[in-house]
Amino acid sequence: MKVLISDNLPDICKTILESADIQVITKTDFTPEELQKEIGVYNGLIIRSSTQCTPEIIERADKLQAICRAGVGVDNVNVPAATKKGVIVMNTPGGNTTSTAEHAITLLLALSRNIPQACNSVREGKWERKKFTGTQVSGKILGVIGLGKIGKEVAKRAIALEMKVLGYDPFVSNEKIPHLNIHLVKDLDEIYRQADYITLHIPLIKDTKNLISNREFELMKNGVRIINCARGGIISEDALYDALVSGKVAGAAIDVFEKEPPEGNKLLELDNVLPTPHLGALTEEAQYAVARDAAE
Ligand code: MLT
Repeated sequence: MKVLISDNLPDICKTILESADIQVITKTDFTPEELQKEIGVYNGLIIRSSTQCTPEIIERADKLQAICRAGVGVDNVNVPAATKKGVIVMNTPGGNTTSTAEHAITLLLALSRNIPQACNSVREGKWERKKFTGTQVSGKILGVIGLGKIGKEVAKRAIALEMKVLGYDPFVSNEKIPHLNIHLVKDLDEIYRQADYITLHIPLIKDTKNLISNREFELMKNGVRIINCARGGIISEDALYDALVSGKVAGAAIDVFEKEPPEGNKLLELDNVLPTPHLGALTEEAQYAVARDAAE
């Protein structure tokens, strides 16, 4: 059996596969055309974010039995094409949960205390203490949209910070989260109306594309803060830009963009935007865990 690892992953992935007598080829610089030519000899393919499994590549994957994405989203795999070809598409849903939840909380606190802006100001030789007066998160309402693995971990951490957590997830009932002090709402608009902070933990699918747009921003409290470590495109970037400029949204921490990297994105021009380069799952621990899970 022959497996191709076509994106950078910790060695543990290769080690586990080889210990099961699987021949592993690691090659991370295939062009799409080269991959299309070569894919026919492999039984398995392990990817992270760079490899795009297009219909053209999958069409040539005559021996392929499974594609595994070492991560949660399978956005870079054309799943209908894989299904048509009889190729199973897998993810590693648990490995980066904690890291992504920690990143969301990091952004929540950094937004509240103007950390990046204050750092830049000190580096420029300034000492602008009053300008960077922050807000306390304790006692504030956090709306968590999506209570899967990551959303639940974010909620747990926010509760430890003495926030009141409102949660929305059409697939989760109170019985599923009895041990957590999350107040479930049935109507997503309740989150928009009540929350001081909103964090997203849902996939980007047809139904969640532009889930948050002008109407939703209208419903929100003045001065709400938004955190998106899920996927670009769930929030309309144009609507977010307008809401940030008008002051409706006091700040947005954005780890994910409609187009990555976000070259020319006008959100980056705003001081009240805290951008990070899709770092949610990028810790040593999470990368090790997803590489191990993918191999297993
Ligand atoms: C994921 O889908 O696992 C995350 O977005 C992490 C990533 O792509 O780096």
